[in-house]
Amino acid sequence: MRPGLFVTFEGPEGAGKSTQLARLAQRLAETGRPPVTTREPGGTPLGMRVREVLLDPALTIDPLPEFLLYSASRAQLVRDVIRPALAAGQVVLCDRYADSSLAYQGSGRGLDPAFLAALTGEVTGGLQPDLTILLDLDPALGLARAASRGQPDRLERADLTFHRRVRHGFLDLAAQAPERFLVLDAARDPDSLAADIWRAVQKRLRAEMC
Ligand code: TYD
Repeated sequence: MRPGLFVTFEGPEGAGKSTQLARLAQRLAETGRPPVTTREPGGTPLGMRVREVLLDPALTIDPLPEFLLYSASRAQLVRDVIRPALAAGQVVLCDRYADSSLAYQGSGRGLDPAFLAALTGEVTGGLQPDLTILLDLDPALGLARAASRGQPDRLERADLTFHRRVRHGFLDLAAQAPERFLVLDAARDPDSLAADIWRAVQKRLRAEMC
C-alpha cells in the first residue's frame, strides 16, 4: 500500500486557492491518482453547518469562540475524512487547514499562538500537511477579487489592516517551516502557478515511493 499524501492550500482572500486546487485534482486524476478534495470550514455534515455560522455576516463572534468553531469543524474533518483517506493511501487536497487558524485567529485576531498550537495539536492529533501551497497576495487585490464574486462574507468584511496581519501571519509560518511550504505569488499567471504546484507535488509523490 502506498502511503497517502496530505496537501493543503492556504492564503488570503481571493488568492485563487480553489482554482489551483481544482487544477491539481484534475492533473492527479489524469495520472491515475484521483485525490480526495475537501475544504475548511466544511467537508462534513457538521462542518457545513458550522461553516454557515462562521461566515454569516449577521453574527458577531468573539475571537475565542470563532477559533473553537473552526476547530470543531477541523476535528470532525480530520477524523471522518482526512485520516481515513490517508490511511487508504490516497492523496488529500484540502482548501485551508490549521495554518488558517494561526494566521486569521492568531496574527489577525490576536489570540495567543501557543494556545492555538496546543489546542490544534489536540484537534488534529498532530496531523501536519506534507506540503502546503501558500498563494500569497496583497489583500487589497484579493478582497477586490473576492468582492467581484458576490456579497462579502463575515471574514471578508473585516478591515484591510486585519487582512494585512493575516497575510504576514502566513508568510511568517512559511518562513518557520520552509521544507513544508511552497510560497507562490498569486498575482502570477494561473498556468505557470499550476505548473509549479504540479512539480512540487510530483517531487513529493516520488519521494513517497522511495
Ligand atoms: P471561504 O469562503 O472558504 O474563503 P476562501 O475562499 O478565502 O477560503 O471562507 C473561509 C473563511 O474562513 C476565510 O475568510 C478564512 C477563514 N478561516 C479562518 O478565519 N480560520 C480558519 O481556521 C479557517 C479554516 C478559515
